[in-house]
Order: sequence, then structure tokens, then C-alpha cells
Amino acid sequence: MTTAAGNRTTHRAASLAARAAMVLRDNDTGTLVTASPRLYPHMWSWDAAFISIGLAHLDVGRAAAELDTLLSAQWCDGMIPHIVFTGDDDYFPGPDRWGTDDAPQRPAGVRTSGICQPPVHAIALRRIVDTARRTSGTDTRVAEDFARRVWEPLHHWHRWIARHRMSGDHGLVTIVHGWESGMDNSPRWDVPYAGVRPGPDLPPYVRLDVLKVDDPGQRPSDDEYDRYLWLIEQMRRADYNPDEIVETSAFLVGDVFVTAVFALASETLADLGEEIGAPATEIAELRTWAERTRAAAARSCHPDTGMARDFDVRTGTWLDTESIAAFSPLLCGGLPADTEQRLIDTLDGPSWSAHPDLLAAVPPSVSPRSEDFDPKLYWRGPQWPVVTWLFGWAFGRRGWERHASEFRAQGVHLASDGSFGEYYEPFTAAPLGSANQSWTAAVVLDWLCSV
Ligand code: SER
Repeated sequence: MTTAAGNRTTHRAASLAARAAMVLRDNDTGTLVTASPRLYPHMWSWDAAFISIGLAHLDVGRAAAELDTLLSAQWCDGMIPHIVFTGDDDYFPGPDRWGTDDAPQRPAGVRTSGICQPPVHAIALRRIVDTARRTSGTDTRVAEDFARRVWEPLHHWHRWIARHRMSGDHGLVTIVHGWESGMDNSPRWDVPYAGVRPGPDLPPYVRLDVLKVDDPGQRPSDDEYDRYLWLIEQMRRADYNPDEIVETSAFLVGDVFVTAVFALASETLADLGEEIGAPATEIAELRTWAERTRAAAARSCHPDTGMARDFDVRTGTWLDTESIAAFSPLLCGGLPADTEQRLIDTLDGPSWSAHPDLLAAVPPSVSPRSEDFDPKLYWRGPQWPVVTWLFGWAFGRRGWERHASEFRAQGVHLASDGSFGEYYEPFTAAPLGSANQSWTAAVVLDWLCSV
């Protein structure tokens, strides 16, 4: 059933949930749900995690299979790659451009990219188990057996991050490509990318993404793509050796959002480990990593504004941008009470969720009051439902129920036209980027099934 609200036609809960389920089914190839039908015909790492959260409401076994597919592409050293390629060759950069086939750590039988994405997978596992426990005894057994089976691979993944990406004095988890942040062209990366100078030997390429969206202006620029591709070139030349990449990459940034997600996910995985009887030493390791990264995220906060910051390792500078990542410590805790309250007040205030012109009161990717803000450009202003889901889930875990349920209600409001955009224009809630984006459908379904 639909109603007209302003210029938008919106769906009531049952109809919206049915549409969300249909998107997940339509995008399902059998072994994986593609991130979206046209723009992203493969599996993306953090998309897969959010997708599995939605699938759990339809079929817990299918949710588990989604993460199994992702984990079957886990590299032997523990890294979970950011793309697992299907046979579809209508995406650039595809597996040949990544050139990972000869990387010694890549598992046989799958083709993948050579970088990673935010480690949200333990959070998805937690959510699948919790959903199953609310559903039935059979689902509970399926989910708990699954948790026992994948706990070690997830611990291996966290150990890879701890081993290869937690080395600087700043203490933040480092990334070697903006794509690893998940927030590809966020203004957070403008300074570090200014230092990435593509060489004359960058092999030529043709972008496909700009052909698949209504307005190419909603996607990163060609200049940005040159830099993205140059970093891949550097990694290929380092044979995807993780330590050599950290040493040689022109882009090396301590990412406060990935750091806070890692802290939250490590704590979550440790809790799950207690429930299923995982080895005590490994649980203790996770708690140590969580403690270290929580502290690093807290230390990143600007002494005057209280906003969390990234750290550009190559230039040795803190990066102040008015992006959603500035609220990252709220995900994992670790701030003194007064600093934390100030950050919450800022998030709830008129520069963010309570900006008077927003159609739905959830934080945009960049503050509408920032000079970097662009309401239609990917990670430079639009609202992303998955980000709202993540903050809302973390708030619920921290006992902030009112805040969590407000994010849930407003997130549903944002997406209630039922088109499941990749991201949304904050003032009109117009869907942007790709339509029928699986992770948007998944988190909306989870929201609707939680009330
Ligand atoms: N998000 C990137 C893209 O737009 C790749 O990870 O294709």
C-alpha cells in the first residue's frame, strides 16, 4: 500500500518490506547477492555483511551462505578482499586490471580485488544470531552452528588487520586506498589524494560506472579515478605483499571510522566467542585490539571541536573534515563522558541530523554546512542508509535505545519510496547512484522487522 507524501509516493511498512525482500531475491545469483544489478554485478565485502543481515529475516541458512561465499574468498593470510568477482565482465576495474591472480596469498578458484573494506562482518554475524534467536529453535541452531564455524576465519581476519594495519604511533587502523574506507571520494581523502601523482605509465582504461547511473555527476571524477587506478598499479608492482604495500603506497592514512568499526567488531566477536566457547587466548587478543583501537579513536578527537580525525601518514598531518566519520568514537565508546555528550549533541544538532532542510533526520555523509558539501555527489553529502544502520545498531548496543529507534524510524522514512537507492539526496530523499541496491534493501528490511 502506498501514500503520497509531498512529491514522494511512499510505501507503508508491509509493502516496503515486501519490496526490500524482492530486491534481495532479484539480485541473488544463488551463491551471492550482487551489490546491485547494473552498477555493481559482483560481491563487495562490507555490502555482503549488511546483505546477510537482511537475508537473515528471510532465510537464516541463506544469510549464512552469503558470508560463506565471502569467506571462501578470504586470502590465506587472513585478508577478506573487497570484491569477489562473479563471471560478469561489465564492471571496471575487473579482475584482470587488479591482477591478483598471481598473488601468493589469494585462494584458488576465485578471483578477487587486492584491498579490503571496513570490518563489519562480526557485527553481521552477531545480528544474524540475534535475529535467529528471535525466530525459532531451528534457526537458532543453524545460526549458532554457523557462528562456531566462522568464528576462527573472522578472528584470522581481525588478526590480519592487527598485524598489518596497526603499526603507527597514531594507533589508528591504516588504509592504503580510499576504497578501503568504503567512503571512496569523501573529502576526508582530498589531502592524501593530492599527494598521489599517477605516473605516465598508468595503463589506459575506460570507466564503465559513469555509463550506468543517470547522472555521472553523482560519481567520483576522472581525476580521482586516475589516482584510484594508480594505487592499484603500485600494489600490483608490490605483488600484493601487505607489508610492502604499506611501505610503498602513495596513500597511507589512519582511518578513524575503520578504526572504530574494528574496535566495535573485535569486541562483538569476543562476546560471541565467549558464547560459543572459543579459545580464551584468542578472545583476550580481540579485547586487547579493541582496547587499543578504541583509545586511538578517542585520541584522534580535535581538542577544540571534539570531532574525530583521520591521520595522513605520508604528510604527518591530522585531517579535519566535517564528515560522518568525525562521530566514529560513538560507535565504539572510549571517550570521557563530557566529550562524548558533546559529540552526541553535535550529531543531533542543526549542522547534522537536525539540519532544518533535511527530509529525514539522519546524518548526511558531510555536514550541509560544510564547504565540502554536495547533496548529490556520492560520499560528499548524500545520506547512506547503511551508515545510519551501523550507528543505530551501535547506539542500541550501548543502551541508547531512544537514539537507536529514532535512527530506525527516520532511516525507514528516508527509504520509504521503495526504490532502494544506493544513497539519497538529503533535502528531497531522491534516490541516487544505483537503484535496487542490495544493502539498502537489507538494512531497511532489518529496521522494519525490528519494530
Ligand atoms: N565503491 C567502488 C566503486 O564504486 C569500488 O569499490 O566501484
